[in-house]
Parts: sequence; C-alpha cells; structure tokens
Amino acid sequence: MSSQTTYRELNGVECGKALRVRIAEAAERIGKKRGRTPHLAAVLVGEDPASQTYVGSKVRACAEVGFRSSLLKQPADITEAALLALVERLNNDPEVDGFIVQLPLPKHINEERVTLSIAPGKDVDGFHPQNLGRMMLGLPGYLPATPNGIVELLKHYEVPTEGKHCVVVGRSNIVGTPMAILMSRNSNPGNCTVTLAHSRTKDLPAITRQADILIVAIGKPGFITAAMVKQGAVVVDVGIHRLADASRKSGYRIAGDVDFDAIAPKCSWITPVPGGVGPMTVTSLLLNTLKAAEG
Ligand code: GUN
Repeated sequence: MSSQTTYRELNGVECGKALRVRIAEAAERIGKKRGRTPHLAAVLVGEDPASQTYVGSKVRACAEVGFRSSLLKQPADITEAALLALVERLNNDPEVDGFIVQLPLPKHINEERVTLSIAPGKDVDGFHPQNLGRMMLGLPGYLPATPNGIVELLKHYEVPTEGKHCVVVGRSNIVGTPMAILMSRNSNPGNCTVTLAHSRTKDLPAITRQADILIVAIGKPGFITAAMVKQGAVVVDVGIHRLADASRKSGYRIAGDVDFDAIAPKCSWITPVPGGVGPMTVTSLLLNTLKAAEG
C-alpha cells in the first residue's frame, strides 16, 4: 500500500464561520418578525477555568451572530435548591429562548437532577432524556452540541460516510454515546456501521485500525497513536488538553486525544486541535438556540 502524505483538514473555524453567516441572517429575520433576537442564557457555577473559557466562547459567539446572551454566574457553594430555583425561573422566562447549565457542577450538586429539571423545549444542550430519546427515535428535538457539530463538519466537507465503518472511542453521555447513534442513523452524514469502543474494550488498536472514520472522545492526551490508525482514515479528535510546554512563550500547548503530527500523514481528513471540533460545538449550540427561537 502506498503511504499518503497529504491530508485535508476538517477545519471547524472555517466551517463554523460559514454556518454562522447563515445563523446571523436567520437571527436578523427572527428579530424583525417578532421584535427580539434569539436569546441564550448560560449558567456558570463556580470558577473552573475550563468552564469559564467554554462559556466565554459561547457568549462571544452569540454576539457574533446577533443573539442576545445572559451569563448567570453563581458561586461554587450555591445550594442545589437555589440552582434548581434558577433553572425554574429560566424555564418560565418568556424572554429566554434556550439555556444551558455548564458542566461539571460542584460535587454537592446532583447533575442528573439539574439536567432533568431543564424544560426540554429550552434544553439547547440536548442533554435532557426527552431530547436524547427523540434523537434515538429520529424525531425532531435538540441534538447534543458536540456530536451534532461533528455531523455538520462532515457534511460541510462532503466526507462520504455511507457504508463506512465508524469507530467511536469513548462512551460518555454527551459525546460518545450520542455520536454512535447519529453515525448509524439512516441519513447523510450517517449510514455507518458503528463500533462504540470504551475503557473495557479488548485489543483497542485492532478495532481502531478497522476504522474508516475514527472519532475519539476519551479525554487522554495523545491516546491514539499512528499504529492505531488505518491508512486513509478520517480522524475526528474531540479531546482538548492544555499541556505544560516550556518551549512556548505561554508555557503551554493545546493537544487533543490523538497524536496529530504522527497520524495526520496517514489520514484522508483530520481535525486540528484547536480549531476542529471545539468551534463546531459552539456553532451547534447556536443552531439549537436558533431552532428554539423559531419555536
Ligand atoms: N461541559 C463540557 N461540554 C459541555 C457542553 O457542551 N455543555 C455543557 N452545559 N457543559 C459542558
């Protein structure tokens, strides 16, 4: 087999920009029609630096497309009852089209109870069991932001998926599990034969080497090495890690779950980190908020 040295980037910044132009146009139409632009509220509990960064980029993205946003910062020691009361207020606020509660929450708060308390019609993260169930059945609803962002990315670059073997590594409720469902659906992108691999999978390299499309959301930097990837594969890296790097002015570098430099030459398509999946997650949240505002 000849070894390939050119690969194409699944660029989430470029794809996100293209989608955001369309979202901004739709926001303007909605604003004219009903007298107010789409409005996303984000609840941020505590001071977790990663969560602050993520929520900050969501708020900035809203401004970019002409959405209104409200950032509701809460202290780390907020009681569960007070947080549930805030969720209830947002559920009933006619000025708020959709909202998110950034995860993870402090240990003394039950995340499941909070997620369940969000009105499914305003759950633009798509984490409520009702929205996840609707996705399972192929019914309209809100799709979880990261898996849907990946679907949008594959669609934008017209990556063929039908009949391909898609291996998803990682079975989290918000990425791996919904990703496996979306890739197996009778749609385009979709129609894959899907393997969902996880921490108990035996001989993972033997499985990942079979992947035409490899989607990695395991949360471990550099976990996927070149020996685990088939020549010509499409690789999507959901991981984002800040690693200490004394050679950089900032003192750190950003890395994903895959060893990009070693793997890219084997790939037909690969996502960069940063600038791959991350911007698509935020764009996907904007798409859900737009859907919420359209009613
Ligand atoms: N934590 C990590 N990813 C997400 C996300 O997409 N939404 C929320 N609410 N919390 C997260």
